[in-house]
Amino acid sequence: MRFFCSLVATFLCLFAYTDMVSRAAGIHKMHIRHSRPRSQNPFVPGGPDTLPAFVDDDRNLKLPAVAGAKVQLFAFRPQSGLEPVVVPAYVDEWFDVADIDRIRDIKRAVVHTHGQIRDGWAAWKDAADARAKLDEATQRSVVIVVPQFFNGSDKDIYHGTGPGSTGNLLVWDLNGWGEGAVNQLPESDTSVSSFEVLDTLGRYLTDPDLFPRVEHITYSGHSLGGQLTHRYSILGDAEPAHGSTATVSFVTIDPATSLYFSAERKGPPCAGMNEYKYGFDKLDEHFPTYSTVRGALRDFYQFRYLNQRSSHLIHAGNDHGQGDSRCWAMAQGKDRVERAQNYHDHLRQIVDTMYPFLPRPREPLDNTTDTKGPYQIGQVTVDWVAGVAHNGAAMVGSLPGRQRIFLDN
Ligand SMILES: *[C@@H]1O[C@H](CO)[C@@H](O)[C@H](O)[C@H]1NC(C)=O
Ligand SMILES: *[C@@H]1O[C@H](CO)[C@@H](O)[C@H](O)[C@H]1NC(C)=O
Repeated sequence: MRFFCSLVATFLCLFAYTDMVSRAAGIHKMHIRHSRPRSQNPFVPGGPDTLPAFVDDDRNLKLPAVAGAKVQLFAFRPQSGLEPVVVPAYVDEWFDVADIDRIRDIKRAVVHTHGQIRDGWAAWKDAADARAKLDEATQRSVVIVVPQFFNGSDKDIYHGTGPGSTGNLLVWDLNGWGEGAVNQLPESDTSVSSFEVLDTLGRYLTDPDLFPRVEHITYSGHSLGGQLTHRYSILGDAEPAHGSTATVSFVTIDPATSLYFSAERKGPPCAGMNEYKYGFDKLDEHFPTYSTVRGALRDFYQFRYLNQRSSHLIHAGNDHGQGDSRCWAMAQGKDRVERAQNYHDHLRQIVDTMYPFLPRPREPLDNTTDTKGPYQIGQVTVDWVAGVAHNGAAMVGSLPGRQRIFLDN
């Protein structure tokens, strides 16, 4: 009888889910796509048919050099249909789609995001140093891409060739890039969510014509990059290229706050604490253009995140900083460690009450050393790294960091 009941529950759930998916797809189709004007853009070689693409940095961005990496511009046509835009990125020095032999070794693309101070160079080095601890064949099979999200305080870097407009270079307001907000510059098109950058990078890096052996894409990030990855893992489209069978995973490391699925909080309550990016209130207002978020249902995201997507949370056991001390963040807990624990309790409660019957094939790592983990909540794994405070290099290079980013699907 129990078996029969859980069978019925599974079918009911699948039914509800299929319905949600088709509703979300309907919303997606409703999004109006403008016709695509031919580009006059000087940063795009070969014209509109070659986008998206990584192109050489002809702007002389004053970004710090990192051994093993080069800075390129990732150029793409935004969904607005307006002129192409570019976002700089640190990529492996050898990365060149024309080098077919080398490209055929790539099995995994890691899109890793920097923290609040927008130090893509340091984030790339963290990921590359962690990769260097893997066996040689695996090292060769991974390309690391770190998009550089600028805000207005980076003028000295992006105005390397002198003051003036940013051209088609994407720049965000404040920390907006860390929660999927649209860009602030160029003024001619302020429709580009940082989620759209991640989507486009993911589709490009899984394009079977360009990267025939890519099997997996990992989105990861530390600190504010972790916050971006976390929101993206819940709300982002993150679909691989058409015709690709690549799988996708998300590795969120040391976020200051998380996105709650309900309004309850363990810390001191405060007005607005359930508004995005902390909760689902006013989601549409925060995503004026990102089509897969517009109008979709919270239940859809909750189910997808906890049961279908492959998400990994990694937390530093000594991370007692706050990162965000505003009351909306304090409502989630007093520091990063407590906020992480409270958020896991929140997720566990949802799984226990809403989806207790689904299979749990994934296993947490069994040798991270902390009383608070590792464990699994729905399809989300949680690892704690003992003895580490807020430190991207130590976290990305830790055993769970390496395992989740470079090895797991
Ligand atoms: C850029 O981000 C930093 C870090 O959050 C912030 O202090 C600064 O005000 C931001 N600058 C602009 C112009 O948005
Ligand atoms: C976990 O196991 C690996 C491999 O046996 C070992 O190298 C590592 O030190 C262990 N990590 C911890 C935190 O115990």
